Amino acid sequence: MIVGICKETFPDERRVALIPDVARRLTELGLEVLVERGAGTGACISDSAYEEAGARLAGDRTEVFGAADVVVQVHSVGSNPETGHSDLALMRSGQVTIGFCDPLSSPEIAGKVGETGVTSFAMELLPRITRAQSMDALSSMATIAGYKAVLLAAEALPKMFPMFMTAAGTVKPAKVLVVGAGVAGLQAIATAKRLGAVVSGYDIRSAVKEQVESLGAKFVEVELNAGETEGKGGYAKAMTEEFYREQRELMAKVVSANDVVITTAAVPGKKAPLLVTTDMVKSMVPGSVVVDLAAERGGNCELTKPDEAVVEEGVTVLGPTNLPSTVPYHASQMYAKNIFTLLVHLVKDGVLELDMEDEITREMLLTHAGEVVQPRVRELLGLPETVSATEETAKDE
Ligand code: NAI
Repeated sequence: MIVGICKETFPDERRVALIPDVARRLTELGLEVLVERGAGTGACISDSAYEEAGARLAGDRTEVFGAADVVVQVHSVGSNPETGHSDLALMRSGQVTIGFCDPLSSPEIAGKVGETGVTSFAMELLPRITRAQSMDALSSMATIAGYKAVLLAAEALPKMFPMFMTAAGTVKPAKVLVVGAGVAGLQAIATAKRLGAVVSGYDIRSAVKEQVESLGAKFVEVELNAGETEGKGGYAKAMTEEFYREQRELMAKVVSANDVVITTAAVPGKKAPLLVTTDMVKSMVPGSVVVDLAAERGGNCELTKPDEAVVEEGVTVLGPTNLPSTVPYHASQMYAKNIFTLLVHLVKDGVLELDMEDEITREMLLTHAGEVVQPRVRELLGLPETVSATEETAKDE
């Protein structure tokens, strides 16, 4: 079986889907690895490093798509609709593709991928279950984003993060609030703590209070009569607009008391909840910084513009959309390890097996045999349930 790696074409993307160490481990398992020349350049990995690891080099992506049984990418077409569109013409029926596909936001592209006959797996749809943790690329990339968001804030803030007691006087530590204490948020809290800031964290899922406190941060309690806030897979549930309005009112004071606010609040498949209004930004001390990690999904802050710095009454609002790409070496290493574990899970005796009894395969499988098969994506496309999904539903009842 040949595993193919292409150069990423998403604008400014520096990651690569597979690193030489993982290529070596795949060849030890009897798989062949074919890498497009220059695929690793953005992540500081040379072609020769792949060759030394036992991979073969291909002249261009047409050669990779032409020969590979499995094409592994960071951005598959769905998450790279403009520049990745041309890959549709290279895909072969029966071929397998693995990568981020953004299927819940762009289900219609999944439909086009389905028409090529490709069997595609969407990394975003991996279930958040214990045995899948080592394959969870959303989490590993969010870890990087949480870390880097704090560094961006520290760079933009006209203050230092730690307390300094010097002959020139005492410098007070910066105050950092992290809104949304999932994977990115917890890493942001840990990084801000390491830099010496006074950190607090907030989330609508009270279950994370203990995790926030275990990192040495204060958990912000907001008196909201929310009812159940946790949905399937430990993710937050989408709440009503009335709930978010009340939440904003209660959070206003907390936001204005901080020098840095990092927002990471997300509900899978939904637009990001609006939590920080323009008025809240204006209430912050000039020089304060908001880093909105949810920029790509509409933003948690009203002023956020994706990949731009907006300055409102002296407060800087940053909305970076692809922070993992700014740490390409380790981001590629983590992504490649996630891919390796997934491939080991899917491939038996050198052949990729589709075991629909397996929750990981069933949830991640986006297209197969000429159509979209993932139930949530079919629903978004207004397609009827597939026969196997109907059987599953019957079993559950
Ligand atoms: P996650 O699902 O682990 O965490 C999101 C957290 O937000 C959850 O703990 C959830 O309970 C919380 N939340 C939801 N609604 C809330 C509300 N109304 N108030 C307070 N908290 C609320 O997600 P993860 O993996 O940590 O990702 C966080 C965000 O970062 C996502 O929007 C993701 O797309 C984004 N991200 C951004 C990157 C970038 O470069 N900008 C890179 C990777 C992820």
